[in-house]
Amino acid sequence: MANRTVQPTSPESHRARPEGAAPDPAAVFDWVDRRAELRARAGLTRRPRPRPAVDPLLDLASNDYLGLVRHPRVVRAAADAALRWGAGATGSRLVTGTTELHTELEEELAAFCGAEAALVFSSGYAANLAALTALTGPGTLIVADAYNHASLIDGCRLSRAEVAPVGHRDPDAVRAALAGRDGGRALVVTDSVFSVDGDAAPLAELAGACRAHGAALLVDDAHGLGVVGDGGAGALAAAGLAGSPDVVATVTLSKSLGSQGGAVLGPRRVVRHLVETARTFIFDTGLAPASVGAALGALRLLREEPERAARAREVARRLSAGLTAAGLEASVPDAAVVSVRAPSPEAAVAWARACREAGVAVGCFRPPSVPDRFSRLRLTARGDLTDARIEQAVAVVARCAPRADAPHPVAGN
Ligand SMILES: Cc1ncc(COP(=O)(O)O)c(C=O)c1O
Repeated sequence: MANRTVQPTSPESHRARPEGAAPDPAAVFDWVDRRAELRARAGLTRRPRPRPAVDPLLDLASNDYLGLVRHPRVVRAAADAALRWGAGATGSRLVTGTTELHTELEEELAAFCGAEAALVFSSGYAANLAALTALTGPGTLIVADAYNHASLIDGCRLSRAEVAPVGHRDPDAVRAALAGRDGGRALVVTDSVFSVDGDAAPLAELAGACRAHGAALLVDDAHGLGVVGDGGAGALAAAGLAGSPDVVATVTLSKSLGSQGGAVLGPRRVVRHLVETARTFIFDTGLAPASVGAALGALRLLREEPERAARAREVARRLSAGLTAAGLEASVPDAAVVSVRAPSPEAAVAWARACREAGVAVGCFRPPSVPDRFSRLRLTARGDLTDARIEQAVAVVARCAPRADAPHPVAGN
């Protein structure tokens, strides 16, 4: 038979091969390069940038809201925990991965936030997957804010529940979605502080909507813990919802507490249910002792120095006001995140690079890390910034801003 070539069967497989020949193993991931090319054309290339141990840049890019990541007491608590308990947790939480230190952290975290109980996970991401999958399932309705964090979105997907996305910060839409359900359990899920623009969810109104319709409320307080509420007790405490029998919160230990890990907080019976059913609790190695120790150290420090939370919020307001006064489109912060709109992904990358060259590290958020199609610079209002540092940050971001008359490609924006 004549040597015929087989046509590619999908637009993804471009390399032709003789009929009967085994596929070329070197071609298996060719599609990856084509996807990378498309991302590059849209200005969406991403690479990790390893930072040096001693970084001369002013850091407004991390989530170290209270400047605790290098606080001597927090670092010492991490080191002490590693020396005492070892480098790793040694197993999953139900086998050998729960130390007395884990239990101490759970008790202190619950008390700090005003919750009945807490359960620590290896990350905030895992905590969100746990809460969503263990508290919902087929036959449950999840009503979710359209701007929720990716980990909440993934939890919704994994849950196999029916998901009703609703508009951003829209309690009326939540009420309508809950009213329209045909029986069955329902869970409303939202970030407390949205991670890109730093705006707050209307928690009291959402809780009211849940109560009117017999639904539970799940709040991801990743950006609220340590920043929002008296002494940083979090968004639920600030909304008068801490300790509610129908409200569950998730937090990360990796932002204001300067450590690593996450937790679910809520009624004791909910926490017990998660212990026995949440797959990211049961099948994941426990949080490393050093991270548990650091989180405990940070929590204790914050209890002694509650003014740190208010200072982070104050820094955010000052950054936002300064950027707005400079003619930039800055978000109005409800916590310690401020974002500034960029005209395009490419412009955002160039802007962030120029800031970095001028000594200030800022976050550069582009699709798919933004809830809409607008790229932004994201600034962390660290509570340990001095007034001079705030002024420096505003001056650099304003000076490096794309000129209004500069031509910008608009791909992605
Ligand atoms: C709102 C929100 N939820 C959850 C997470 C995940 O937390 P972690 O980084 O501890 O996995 C993040 C982290 O970026 C977040 O911003």
